[in-house]
Amino acid sequence: MRYLLFIPFLLLVCCKNATPTSFGELNPDNIAQQKFVLTSGADTTVRTQSGVLIHICANTFATANGTTFELVVQEALTKSDILMSGLPTVDQEGKLLESAGMINIITNPILEINPECPISVKVPTNGLHPNMSLFTMNVNNGETSWKYQAPLLSPKTLESLKTGEQLYVKYCQPCHYIDQRFTGPALGCIEMGENRRTREWLIKFTRNSQKMIADGDTLAVCNWNAYKPVLMNSFQFLSDEEINQIFDYISSESLRTEICNKDFDLGRIGLQECYQSVTDSTFKYSSDSINFPFNHTFYYEFSTHKCEWLKWSYFINTEDVVENFKVKINEDVEMHMIFDRYKSIVSFVKFGEYYTMYNIYGEKVNLPLNEPVTIIAFTREENGHRKFIEYKTTIKPVNSFSLELTSITADEFRKILKSYQ
Ligand code: HEC
Repeated sequence: MRYLLFIPFLLLVCCKNATPTSFGELNPDNIAQQKFVLTSGADTTVRTQSGVLIHICANTFATANGTTFELVVQEALTKSDILMSGLPTVDQEGKLLESAGMINIITNPILEINPECPISVKVPTNGLHPNMSLFTMNVNNGETSWKYQAPLLSPKTLESLKTGEQLYVKYCQPCHYIDQRFTGPALGCIEMGENRRTREWLIKFTRNSQKMIADGDTLAVCNWNAYKPVLMNSFQFLSDEEINQIFDYISSESLRTEICNKDFDLGRIGLQECYQSVTDSTFKYSSDSINFPFNHTFYYEFSTHKCEWLKWSYFINTEDVVENFKVKINEDVEMHMIFDRYKSIVSFVKFGEYYTMYNIYGEKVNLPLNEPVTIIAFTREENGHRKFIEYKTTIKPVNSFSLELTSITADEFRKILKSYQ
């Protein structure tokens, strides 16, 4: 109800004079199309370049059985791809989204999807973020926003994460923190990055680390050398399921608190020699995992009855009071804010004298205080050049300033767009 009352009001107040400033150069056509030639009438699973699994069952395209068609997939999972796609990561009410990924699934020719057997999608992930949800795209006058559909974690999964947390607090927290060293090493991000431990190894280690050390397991010995003489208890009484729940919780918490980065592993063991031995001998990618760099694989799963852009995301907490941006630039520019810590991008619109932020429904975009961001603004290209600025700042309660642009080549511009990872 609030929604219905608010929209027309805001449209009048703010959008009458606010003009979208997209030059249309950043658009979904910039995202590579992956094409799969399939025959309908058979159960089929395809795997995209980033490891997303798309499953079509024998009846999905019942009306076209036996015919050949093309399944065309576009996916944007990196910040730079999200920027190139020109799809801002804001919902209908102006709430900011962390964009874990977006995918567009279409068929050529267009085929009707059997509602009893929708296209199902499985997205591999390093851990399950408790708030991850599905969104679909809304387009209004060429501008985009996202509509919340449903949570992606089932009540059963959430329950299991909760059990994992309880077990972790009871048995592990006396000696371990997730995000830093304590009596034992930090346990966060332990299944992520180049030196991740396998689930199998983690279960064995948790059951009886001393036996692994005695047996000469490279990594166990390294851990021991870094932390001896403190002994880790053996947890023989925990079942596989319980240990799995503990590490599911640890991975989920690592994602939720956004602590994982390249240095985290090195800090965990604290010995450079161990890092080397881990990288060299213990954890080689198997050839099967080149495009699929996950070990104990978690999945987000969802299905769709429509060929359209889908997005798996969660709301970024933005309870803070931040006044809308007022940026003055003496040029006609397209302008975006790229969050440093989130895969999240918001576009500016022109409002009278300055550039500011409303979504397509005229709702002010809610921004989190103190977040580090990079603002980019650019003019149209002319003779292989355009004027550009990349401005790094943090979001303050009031954000009012002017920016001066400088000239760069088209090549430099493309490189910069590609550099946001
Ligand atoms: C009495 C303190 C203590 C408790 C309780 C404890 N640990 Fe440990 N843990 C350690 C120490 C110390 C190490 C470092 C290696 C060693 O000394 O064996 C370690 C190492 C580890 C490692 C290896 C980390 C790496 O970088 O490879 C894992 C995994 C681990 N612990 C998991 C657990 C889990 C899961 C629990 C709870 C079920 C737990 N620990 C409870 C002290 C503890």
